[in-house]
This record gives sequence, structure tokens and C-alpha cells, in this order.
Amino acid sequence: MLDIANFIATRRDRGRHTSEELADFAAAVANGSVPDYQLSAWLMAAFLNPLSIEETAWLTRAMADSGEIMDLTGLPKPWVDKHSTGGVGDKTTMVLLPLLAACGLTVVKMSGRGLGITGGTLDKLSAIPGFRTNLTPHEMKEQAKLIGLALTGQTPNLAPADKVLYALRDTTGTVGSIPLIVSSVLSKKLAGGAETIVLDVKCGSGGLVQTEQEARKLAATLADVGKLLKLRVRIALTDMSQPLGSAMGNALEVKEAVQVLTGRARSAPVLRFRSLCIELAGLTLEACGMKDTLEDGKKAAEECLANGSALKKFQYWCQSQGATVDVTEPSFEFPNAPTIKTYNTPSTGWASVLDAQTFGRGVMRLGGGRKRKEDLIDPRVGIELHACVGQRLEIDAPLFTIHATDEETADKVAARTFEGVEITESSPPKRPLVLDLY
Ligand code: URA
Repeated sequence: MLDIANFIATRRDRGRHTSEELADFAAAVANGSVPDYQLSAWLMAAFLNPLSIEETAWLTRAMADSGEIMDLTGLPKPWVDKHSTGGVGDKTTMVLLPLLAACGLTVVKMSGRGLGITGGTLDKLSAIPGFRTNLTPHEMKEQAKLIGLALTGQTPNLAPADKVLYALRDTTGTVGSIPLIVSSVLSKKLAGGAETIVLDVKCGSGGLVQTEQEARKLAATLADVGKLLKLRVRIALTDMSQPLGSAMGNALEVKEAVQVLTGRARSAPVLRFRSLCIELAGLTLEACGMKDTLEDGKKAAEECLANGSALKKFQYWCQSQGATVDVTEPSFEFPNAPTIKTYNTPSTGWASVLDAQTFGRGVMRLGGGRKRKEDLIDPRVGIELHACVGQRLEIDAPLFTIHATDEETADKVAARTFEGVEITESSPPKRPLVLDLY
């Protein structure tokens, strides 16, 4: 039986936990036998005195074992999963999952709802009429057997210790601890049953980690802990200083994902988003041994986009999860927001800053994101950005379009959004989308 007061004191005094202690701790967290004040004390001690790599791996395993582990036996291998640390306009999962399934992989994924400026894939998919995001583990497996992919919301039985700790971290100023982030992310991936995991660690004002130094530390720790847990983990460190793609907001993001899947991506921001999908697909195909090199993986992904097989998978996926309409039909239109207004570039020059956080805050103000878990979101609202950083802009050319419930809100959000835009006379230094691979 774990002596919790002693366990907290060990962390406070920079001592070391054993794997048995961490297993007992996670089990006690999951069964509700430790009060929040003791959990909060330990979380703060762990924030100030970070867990070692080994302790982080033990905690990760213990949190996964605190609940059910999905058994993917019987599904064709390789089994892969993908996770992003979250960002503004990050709709990658909606393209990447069908793309990977079209390449012959089995993808079973749990996704979350959005909180704060980072949107959640579940909210985006929920913009598709009828799309179910509450599949049971049995339904997930049956669907993955048929079409190679399935996605659901987090079930209460997977990594329940993480659910308790994550909610407390959110209210105790302890979200930012790298070992706690790593154990939270990887425990859910372990519980999901996949063997190859591709992680997109976002770096910049719109992400969980804002400085490159911290993001590199997070990526390296994810890689090290993954190795100790015998998971095949590959990581892309990617830019989140500007929004990803053009669309931010739930229905708008589905529309953009469909644009990529149907080969209708044309504008610079959408092509930038498309290139990340190809990069992550290539990395996944290489990581699970389906292709020898990243370049071969990217080539295979390009083929599946070009020959329509990724689009077909997306259509099967939507049908299988209950969609009542085909959002890929050219005649399909999502319901429009009551006001749609475009705002123009105020001066000629180079787009030097299009701050992801500012745009993300704008989407929240429009009603497209949540401040608190229980907030309702409006799938119709959002922002479309018509430029990328580094692009030459002409005065009065369209810069962004706001989809809002009324014109007054649109104008207010636009005024704040312009605060995150910088146009300069000289071109800014180039910042690649993929900063590094681990
Ligand atoms: N996402 C998670 O699942 N956990 C964290 O701690 C941070 C981001």
C-alpha cells in the first residue's frame, strides 16, 4: 500500500520513485482513493523536481495500466497511431488517417475535444452531420477491420489516471511539465494499442510549447521515453508560429481537409497544410517499415492522394461513422455563418508575422472554441487566412475572411486579429514548416 504523504515528500526532496510506487500511485489515482489536495501537492512537487526519463517511462506504463488496453489482435498490421500536441488550424488528422489507411496501414485513434485556442479533431468531425465520435472499442475494431481506420473520443476506461491528473494539472499550474506531458500523451497511446506512433510536436505561439528550446526538449523526451517503452515513436517538430493552412474553425477546417483530399488545394496556406500531411504520412510509412525511406513514403502518400484512394477512404470513414451527407460532393455546402466578411491587407510589403495565437483567440471570440470544457461551440464560425508568412502582399488584397454570428462581432475580432499581423518592407527570415525530425 502506497504511503502517499511519504510519496509526496520523496518528490519534494528530489528523491526517486520506484516503478512499484508509481504503479500503486497510478492505480490509486484511477480508483479515486487519493484526495485532490494530495494529488495537487505531488503534481507541484513533480513540476518543480521533474521526473527522470526512467521514472517518466514507469509512470507512463502505470497510467496506461490503470485502465483498459485496446487489443488490436486480428487487425492487419502495421498498427499505427498519430498525435499532435495541438495548434491553430490543425486539421491534419482528417487527411492523414484516410491517407494512411489508403497506403495499407491500420489506424485506430482516440481524439480529444478542443480547449483554449487549440481546436480538437472531435469538434471538427462533429461539424459533419451525423458523424459519431463515441464508438465503443468493439465498434472501433470492427470498423478498422473493414476499412483500415477508426476514430473515437476518449473513453473513460482508457488511461483513467491520466484523466484525473490532466484535469488537476489544468487548474494547478502544472500543465507545462515535460515529464508530465510525456506521460500523459504516451499513456493514452500505449492504451490505444498501436505499435508505431507518429507525434507532431508543435512549436510556436499557437502551440502547447512556444519556444523552440522547450519544444526540442519535449520531442527528445518523447523519443527517449518511447524507446524505453519499446514503442516505435517518430516525431516531427513543426512550426506553429503561424496558423496551419487557411481555415480555422470547425466546419471551415473540414472543408479545407476535403479540398486537399479532392486535389483542389490551390492557395499557399492550403498547400502548406497539404505538405505537412505528406510529410507526416511519409514519416509514418517509413517508421512502420512499409517504406525504406522518408522520400519513398512521401511518394506513396502523393500517389494515394492523386489516385483518389485517400478520398475514397475518407468517404468510407464518414459513412461508417454515421455521416448522413457526403461532404466531398461538389454540391455539398455547410451551413454558412450569418456574416461573412473579408478584410484587406493594410499596406504593401512582406507578411512577416501572422501570429497563430492571435488568430486562435479570434476563433474563440467568434464562438468556435471553448474557454471551459462545458462551453458550446458554433461549427459555422471561424477565420480563413489568405496568406502565409514570407508572402508578398499588395495593399487592399484580401488578407483574411471572418465567419461570424453578426457584423459587429466580425469587426471587433478583425480589429484584434490585425494586432497579430506584421507587414514589413523587407522579407522575413525563412522558417520551415518541419523544423526537425526525431
Ligand atoms: N496533451 C495531452 O494529452 N496531455 C498533456 O499533458 C498535454 C497535451
